[in-house]
Amino acid sequence: MTSKLRVGVAGLGTVGGGLLKLFADPNSRVNEKMVLTSVSARNRTRARGIDISAYRWFDDPVEMAEDADIDVLVELIGGSDGPAKRATEAALQRGAHVVSANKALVAIHGRALAELAESTGAKILFEAAVGGGVPMVKALRESLSGCTAHAIAGILNGTCNYILTEMEAGGRSFEDVLSEAQRLGYAEADPTMDVGGFDAAHKLALLSAIAFGARPDFEHVRVEGIEQVTLTDIRMAGKLGYRIKLIAKGESADGGVAMHVAPALLGFDHPLANVSGSLNALVADAEPSGQLTFIGHGAGEGPTASAVAADLIDLADGRAGFAFGRPFKQLAEAQRAAPAERGRYYMRLMAEDRPGVVAAVSDRLAHEDISIESFLQMPVHDGPVVPIVLTTQICSRAALEAAAGAIESAGVVAEPPRLMPIEESGARTRPWSQR
Ligand SMILES: NC(=O)c1ccc[n+]([C@@H]2O[C@H](COP(=O)([O-])OP(=O)(O)OC[C@H]3O[C@@H](n4cnc5c(N)ncnc54)[C@H](OP(=O)(O)O)[C@@H]3O)[C@@H](O)[C@H]2O)c1
Repeated sequence: MTSKLRVGVAGLGTVGGGLLKLFADPNSRVNEKMVLTSVSARNRTRARGIDISAYRWFDDPVEMAEDADIDVLVELIGGSDGPAKRATEAALQRGAHVVSANKALVAIHGRALAELAESTGAKILFEAAVGGGVPMVKALRESLSGCTAHAIAGILNGTCNYILTEMEAGGRSFEDVLSEAQRLGYAEADPTMDVGGFDAAHKLALLSAIAFGARPDFEHVRVEGIEQVTLTDIRMAGKLGYRIKLIAKGESADGGVAMHVAPALLGFDHPLANVSGSLNALVADAEPSGQLTFIGHGAGEGPTASAVAADLIDLADGRAGFAFGRPFKQLAEAQRAAPAERGRYYMRLMAEDRPGVVAAVSDRLAHEDISIESFLQMPVHDGPVVPIVLTTQICSRAALEAAAGAIESAGVVAEPPRLMPIEESGARTRPWSQR
C-alpha cells in the first residue's frame, strides 16, 4: 500500500483536464505526496488531449467515490445536484476527503456537506469554487482568521465583467457583447447564471460565510443581474466620474450579515474600478489588517486547476481545516440582516421631452427628503424620450424607491426609473498603525 494520498478525479472537462496536466508534469508538487489513481467522466472515448489510460476508469462518479482505493475525490463535474452531489456525499460518508470547484453545490448544500464531513472526520475544500486562481477562500479563512471582517466586496463573475468592460470600451450594447461572448465561448449558451448575478451570488454566500463566521446562506443573497444595464447608463455614469461593475457585497450589519449582488457605480479611484475584462477581484475590509485587495484570473483551465492543486497539497500536508474556517456548530445561524439601506444612488430616467418634467422629478424627490447631488441630461438625442440621470446625496433606499414610484405615476417617464447604488471608495477600516 502506498503512503501517498490516492486521488480520484470526477469530471475531465476544462478544470479536470488542467488538473490532469499537472499530474502529468513530473515537476509539479502534486506528485510529491499524491498519486492520481482513478478518473470518471461521461464519455470514456472522448478525445481529451491527455492520456488517461494509466488510470482506473469509472463510468459512474458515485461508484468511484465509494471505492476504498481513493482517499480524495476531486469533484469537477458541476451542478448543484445530480452526480456531483451524490458523489460528494458518498465520499464524505465514508470519510474520504473532497476537493470541489463547484460553487453551486457548496453554496446551496454547504451546510449539510460541512456537517457530514465533520461527522466522519473528512475534509471538504473549495478554493477553486470562488475566484478561480485568486486565493480568496484561503485569504479569508486562514490569512485573516485573526481579524474581524466588516465588509467584503468583489467582482466575482468574469463573464459579467467582460461584458461591462466591452460595452464601455467599444460603445456596444449588452446584447451585442453577450452574443459575441457566446460565439467566442466566453459565455454559456444559457447565460442566466452569469448575467443574472446567480453565479456571483453563490460565490458571495461562500465568502461571506467564511469572512463573517456564519453558515452559508445563499437563499438570503439579494440578487440583481446586469441585463438592465444600458450603454446610456455606462456613458452617463462615465461623464459623472463612475464606472459600472457587478458588485457582490457582504457586510456585517445589525448583528447579522447583509449580502447583495447588483450592478453599482464605482468612482475611478475605487480599488475595483480598474479590474477589467474577465479578471476577478475581492476587497476585504477587516480589523486590524485594514483593507486588502486580491486580483487575478477567476476562471480557465490553468488558474482553476492551480487552486484545486493547492487544496490537494494542503490535504497531503495535513494542513486542511474546517470548510468554513470553524467547526460547524460554532458558525452563526442564517444571515438575516437587510442590505444597508442608506447610501448614495444613481437614478436614470427616460423622460418625456417636454417642459415641466425636471420640476416634476425634483418635486417627487424633495417630497421624500432626497437631495440631488448631480444632474445630467444628454444634449443630443433622437425621438420623444430623453435620458436624464441624477445622483443623490445619502438617502434611504426605501425613500428613493418611493420617489421613483411617484415619478413613474406622474406620467413623465416612458419606463420605470432605473436605480443603482454608488459604492464609496474609502475603507471602513484602517490598519492600527494609521490611527
Ligand atoms: N471552467 C472554469 O473556468 C471554472 C472555474 C471555476 C470553477 N469551475 C467549476 O468547475 C466545475 C467543472 O467545470 P468545467 O468548466 O471543467 O466543466 P466542463 O468543461 O463542462 O466539464 C465537466 C466534466 O464533467 C463530466 N461529467 C458531466 N456529467 C457527468 C456525469 N454524469 N458523470 C461523470 N462525469 C460527468 C463531463 O464528462 P465528458 O467530458 O465526458 O462530457 C466533463 O468531463 C464546475 O462546477 C464549474 O462551476 C469552472
